[in-house]
Amino acid sequence: MEKKKWWQKAVFYQIYPRSFADSTNNGIGDLQGIIGKLDYLHDLGIDAIWFSPFFPSPQKDYGYDITDYGAIDPEYGTMSDFEELLEQAHSLEIKVILDMVLNHTSDQHPWFLESRSSSSNAKRDWYVWRKGRGKNGRKPPNNWKAIIGGSVWEGDKTTEEYYLHQFLPCQPDLNWWNPKVQEAMFSYLKFWLDKGVDGFRLDIIHTLFEDKEFHDNPRSWRLLPSNDSEAYLFQDPMHTSYLKETLEMCTHIRNLVDSYSPDRMLIGEAMGGPRLFRPLYGEYNDGLNLVFNFKFSDQSFSAKNFSQVIQETESILPNPYWPCYVFSNHDKSRMISRYGNDQKKAKLLTFLLLTLRGTPFIYYGEEIGMTQVKVPKESLKDPLSQLRVWKIPIGRFFGRDGCRTPMQWNNSAKNAGFSSDPSIKPWLPVAENSSLVNVDNQINDEKSMLTFFKRIIQVRKVTKALTEGTLHLLPIDDCLVFERRIAEEKVLSVLNFSKKQIQIQNPLPLSTALFSTDALNISYKTDEYITLQQYEGLLLKG
Ligand code: NOJ
Repeated sequence: MEKKKWWQKAVFYQIYPRSFADSTNNGIGDLQGIIGKLDYLHDLGIDAIWFSPFFPSPQKDYGYDITDYGAIDPEYGTMSDFEELLEQAHSLEIKVILDMVLNHTSDQHPWFLESRSSSSNAKRDWYVWRKGRGKNGRKPPNNWKAIIGGSVWEGDKTTEEYYLHQFLPCQPDLNWWNPKVQEAMFSYLKFWLDKGVDGFRLDIIHTLFEDKEFHDNPRSWRLLPSNDSEAYLFQDPMHTSYLKETLEMCTHIRNLVDSYSPDRMLIGEAMGGPRLFRPLYGEYNDGLNLVFNFKFSDQSFSAKNFSQVIQETESILPNPYWPCYVFSNHDKSRMISRYGNDQKKAKLLTFLLLTLRGTPFIYYGEEIGMTQVKVPKESLKDPLSQLRVWKIPIGRFFGRDGCRTPMQWNNSAKNAGFSSDPSIKPWLPVAENSSLVNVDNQINDEKSMLTFFKRIIQVRKVTKALTEGTLHLLPIDDCLVFERRIAEEKVLSVLNFSKKQIQIQNPLPLSTALFSTDALNISYKTDEYITLQQYEGLLLKG
């Protein structure tokens, strides 16, 4: 059997740098703030951090609009702060993954400023420019839709042509057909690999290339991405996403990363379900190491729903492919709030994530049960909250600010300890419940969410069947049950999604109950039947 890589066994933690810890008291998180919290993360038990971007940016999309891929935004610190962060993280055996936005730059990037300045500029072909159609070229070049709705084409006065953006107009797409663009972006990847980072998360990587001939996308009857296809806004984006060249580029990037050491890794963000994103892993598993599977993030709370996602994922990504289920991140409403802020449900789903086959990602604040914040209209920052299509509330919330609020470290009224000076107002408001939901409150409480996270992370760490084993779903009514096994070690994860206490026939009689989401320090021999409390997750060892 092949040896599993560190990133298969690791627990990842996502930091949104703007919102984690503010050491300079300007209301914005920064790298020194993060350095000050590394011991906390080490105690939590995580093995790797994915940092949302902290490169120079006009912050129109809070770092996903980059003006320099080889520097640190002064708002967040300096290159030497980054080097210190990397060194300290490594000394605690925490790996560091950077967020690389290869698909597009900021419209303020010097390349784009040059590119838009004249049609004969040497950088013109670094982006995708096209003449309009119809009388006087008033109609966009074709029917392609942007991910956020509306056309991908933005008319530009200077040269009376359109440029392409698959996301916001302030994020023009790079022209990946141009070898100079490839070379430039590869040199930045090398720059960070040379510094010693352990890998990259690749932003909307499925949209890197677009059809060279600019064929219209076919119509589709679906409004939003469905689980198996990526059709959105009545269009099948076959000419704008998952192009053959995009898949090949993933393999090239993997080759580059592997040339440093087989221990560096790539994780891709892509839209659609596993059937669609599976090719990003490469025909011979020689593409991206992991691809986020967002199907968990829109399921209603039932054993059947989650079990269907797992079954589908397992069938599309059998070993050696490695799944990566996602509940929360900086684009989604917080998982706990999708299920009525119910701590028991959140614990059950976290238990699910940490006992499944695949690499778990924790979003900052999840470990203390931070809830989605209803940010008042006048304080909204996310550009998507200003767009009409996104005004359709996500749950009860507009845009993505509600999951990006400051990390809650203590009960200080104004900023929950996010800034060291308690009088500072942070860039987004803190949650109203922060005086209760915070690290200080939970750190010594053995019944807290934080302690629960530490315990389940530890159990995962010491149970090889959980980090490396195969997965086999067992059909048991009303429950989600799966076996994880490696060589002689066999464990069973049993999850009760019902609000009632239930009794089921024990699939692993005489096993030891090792861990429960509902009780502390259990260790008992099981019988012919097992009883599970409301929303209880139980781990049995054969
Ligand atoms: C996906 C990122 O996760 C999101 O935050 C960002 O706005 C878009 N890509 C555009 O870069």
